[in-house]
Amino acid sequence: MNVDITDLKTVRLSQDGSAVIILDQTCLPGSEVYVSLSSAEEIWEAIYRLKVRGAPAIGIAAAYGIYVCSRQIAANTYGGFCSEFLRIKDYLASSRPTAVNLVAALDRMEKVVVAHSVNPVPEIVELLRVEAEAIRAEDAAACRKIGENCLSLLRPGMGILTHCNAGHLAVSEYGTALAPVYLGEERGYGFKVFADETRPLLQGARLTAYELQKVGVDVTLICDNMASAVMRKGWVQAVVVGCDRVAANGDTANKIGTSGVAILARYYGIPFYVLGPTSTIDLNCPDGDSIVIEERNPKEITDMWYASRMAPEGVKAYNPAFDVTPHDLITAIITEKGIAYPPFRLEDF
Ligand code: MRU
Repeated sequence: MNVDITDLKTVRLSQDGSAVIILDQTCLPGSEVYVSLSSAEEIWEAIYRLKVRGAPAIGIAAAYGIYVCSRQIAANTYGGFCSEFLRIKDYLASSRPTAVNLVAALDRMEKVVVAHSVNPVPEIVELLRVEAEAIRAEDAAACRKIGENCLSLLRPGMGILTHCNAGHLAVSEYGTALAPVYLGEERGYGFKVFADETRPLLQGARLTAYELQKVGVDVTLICDNMASAVMRKGWVQAVVVGCDRVAANGDTANKIGTSGVAILARYYGIPFYVLGPTSTIDLNCPDGDSIVIEERNPKEITDMWYASRMAPEGVKAYNPAFDVTPHDLITAIITEKGIAYPPFRLEDF
């Protein structure tokens, strides 16, 4: 590898702890711009507008974010601190509904506040910083293990198709779906990656193609509707995707279009792997029908990315950000704890 991808810092805490620093992904691939977020509104907006995105990355951003905001709470009593903390927590949690990591990270931060009700407020704030750093460190360790576990299923020279961006830019380090690609690259596997462009926000074109090309991985960009043609040619031996919420029965929400790729993979007899940390498994959610799917502004389909509007004025447009892949189309769910095959017993993780 000619470049170390971890030189890109997707999300981190400023040295003095007063701000969350994110790589603004809406500026990629044009320029690598870091922005500093120090108010709840700025953090909420960055998550909502996908300046920081990807299930684990928004969890980490929210954890750092609520720490940064907690430092600013002007309350001397535990009760006063706690009620303001909970108000900010609910506000940040409302930025995006589908990825469970966002709420899970904020819940972890709340547990710290609840467990230390007898401590002085400044000590609680310091413990929040420690917890946020732990969430980030655990994610980095999990990603590496996910990569190792998936790599055990792959062979040198394979063609690998991926959808959206579940790479370094979506997590702390390396990615989930792209972690085996990075590890394979380090070990001379010579994978050939096909990146779906991923309409409408183009996470595949702007982000996956960018980060893989940057480190010298053999990556080919295709439009979403080309996946079938590429599979038919025999160029794809495995599909790897990330996840935003995995229900208890294995049904998986991920970027819109993922379920179509799973159907194609089944048709062509290609294994379809879902990769994610156990923090993305939601055992309280029985199945895919119970997952709330974010709907976004239709302008993302009709106007964004075009020099001029690309659809008739007033036309109805439906813009769900995610879809659910039924568990019976998934070959394996790969986490840091191991590989689950059907029937998925995710409670064992
Ligand atoms: O809307 P996005 O860009 O946040 O959607 C991201 C995805 O769907 C990813 O595949 C998922 O969050 C996993 S990231 C490791």
